[in-house]
Amino acid sequence: MITVHKVSDLQALLARERGLGKSIGLVPTMGALHEGHASLARRSVSENDVTVVSIFLNPTQFNDKTDLEKYPRTLEADCRLLEECGVQVAFAPSVEEVYPEPDTRTFSYPPTDAVMEGAMRPGHFNGVCQIVSKLFSYVEPDRAYFGEKDYQQIAVIRRMVDDLGLKLDIVPCPVVREKSGLAMSSRNTLLTDEERTLAANIYRVLEESKSIKAGVRETHDYVVESINAIQGLEVQYYSIVDGCTLAEIESWDDAESVVGCITVFCGSQPIRLIDHIRYK
Ligand code: PAF
Repeated sequence: MITVHKVSDLQALLARERGLGKSIGLVPTMGALHEGHASLARRSVSENDVTVVSIFLNPTQFNDKTDLEKYPRTLEADCRLLEECGVQVAFAPSVEEVYPEPDTRTFSYPPTDAVMEGAMRPGHFNGVCQIVSKLFSYVEPDRAYFGEKDYQQIAVIRRMVDDLGLKLDIVPCPVVREKSGLAMSSRNTLLTDEERTLAANIYRVLEESKSIKAGVRETHDYVVESINAIQGLEVQYYSIVDGCTLAEIESWDDAESVVGCITVFCGSQPIRLIDHIRYK
């Protein structure tokens, strides 16, 4: 595996590969890689001739600077994991390399980017679109791989790809879970063992809510009340939404696909965890 830090080096390398007719897969990450990222990398390796994994902790998508400071940084271990996955190129640029000037572009895709994470973290999706659009223009991938754990992020990126008329496939990949059911996340390393055990209740309750066979409002309340009843967990929001537009629904018949998206504060620091469940 080659590790590149400069955009010009990356572009020169990929131009050679493209010239040989090779397909290119991109896996954008912010580092602190875990098995969830490894599953994206392996999938890209199996579907493309060349896989580029970007490792870049993007400051423009953090509206909370302490969240950015707390974010784990593990470049050496990340590169070892990517080698094991058979990745050909790791792209790890500096902030100055990606943003030589402040990025003043704005992206707006309501309601998709305005609800849930968009409402709780103003500017977050604008920052995600800034970096992902830059990565797409550096790499010009045939396919880009994103974890469904960040369900809303994929919906926003799809809107951006349509908006910019980009020719690439967005490949959503299933959530990878720990044995306990906890969705794998770089933030999990910030949890104590006790908090990790508590956090496993999030998915347990989401799964349970599929079997209570109640209306949308009752199902929503069941999830929020069950999780809030566990000391150390506090729901920030739970939204049951149309799986495509992400607009809230009132009845199960309001949309063809229905997803419940949740954000929960865990522990005393607290750590913000997100997850989702598909109802149909
Ligand atoms: O999902 C992430 O890790 C980030 O939002 C992404 C897509 C790598 C952009 O920084």
